[in-house]
Amino acid sequence: MKKLFLGLLVLMGVSGLAVAEGDAQAGKTKAAACAGCHGADGNSAVAAFPKLAGQNVKYLIKQMNDIKSGARPVPTMAGQLDAKTDQDIEDIAAYFSSQFVSVGAADKELVKLGEKVYRAGTKESGVSACTACHSPTGKGNAMAGFPSLSGQHADYIAAQLRAFREGERTNDGDAKMMRSVAFRLTNKEIDAVSSYISGLH
Ligand code: HEC
Ligand code: HEC
Repeated sequence: MKKLFLGLLVLMGVSGLAVAEGDAQAGKTKAAACAGCHGADGNSAVAAFPKLAGQNVKYLIKQMNDIKSGARPVPTMAGQLDAKTDQDIEDIAAYFSSQFVSVGAADKELVKLGEKVYRAGTKESGVSACTACHSPTGKGNAMAGFPSLSGQHADYIAAQLRAFREGERTNDGDAKMMRSVAFRLTNKEIDAVSSYISGLH
C-alpha cells in the first residue's frame, strides 16, 4: 500500500512536470511569425537577429517575458509577443531549444585574445572568465538559465556586451552579473571574445 502511494506521488510529480513543460510541436506553429527574422529553425541569417536554436528553455522564457514587459526593450519586436500566453511562450521556447545551432568560424587574427578573455578573463582589470557561467564549450548553464553563446553571431554578441557595458541592457538582475563583467571590457576585447564565441562549440 505504502509502495503504491509512493508510486502515485511519483507519477503525479512526473505528469505535473510534463504539463509545465512546453510542447515543441505546438511551438513550431506558434513561432511561424518569428522565422522572418530568427530563421525557421532559429538559425537566423542576419547578425542583427540572434540565433535562438539550441538556446536553453529557461533563458528563452525569461527573455521573451522581459521583451514582452519592456524590461528588455527590443523595438524591432514591437507587438510580436503581446498576444502570447505563458503556454505559448513555453511552447516556443521548447521548439527553439530542440533545434541545433549552426556554428561559424572565428577570425584567426582575434582567436588568441578572444580565447584568453573567454577562458581566463582579464587579470589586469579583474574581468571574470566567461567559462564560469557560460561553460568551456559555450553551452551555458541550462539549470541556472545562463545563456548558451556557442555559434551566436559575433556582431550580436558584441552589441550585447556593449549594451551591458553602457547600461542600455539591464535585465541581468540585481546581481548585475553581465553589467559588472562588461563594464571593464575594452572594445578590442569585446570584438575578440565575440568572434571567438561565434566559432566556439
Ligand atoms: C522583425 C524582426 C523580428 C521578429 C519578427 C522577431 N524578432 Fe525576436 N529579436 C529581434 C531582434 C532585433 C532581437 C535582438 C535585439 C537586441 O539586439 O537586443 C530579438 C531578440 C529575441 C530574443 C532574445 C534572444 C537572446 O539571445 O537574448 C528572443 C528570445 C526572441 N527575439 C524571440 C522572438 C520570438 C519568439 C518571435 C516570434 C514570436 C520573434 N522574436 C520575432 C527581431 C525579431
Ligand atoms: C557570473 C556569471 C556570468 C559571467 C562570469 C559571464 N556571464 Fe554572460 N551572462 C550571464 C547571465 C546570467 C546572462 C543572462 C542575463 C539575462 O537574463 O538577460 C548572460 C548573458 C550574456 C550575453 C547575452 C546573450 C544573448 O543571447 O543575448 C552575452 C553576449 C554574454 N553573457 C557574454 C559573456 C562574456 C563574453 C563573458 C566573459 C567576458 C560573460 N558573459 C561572463 C552570466 C555571466
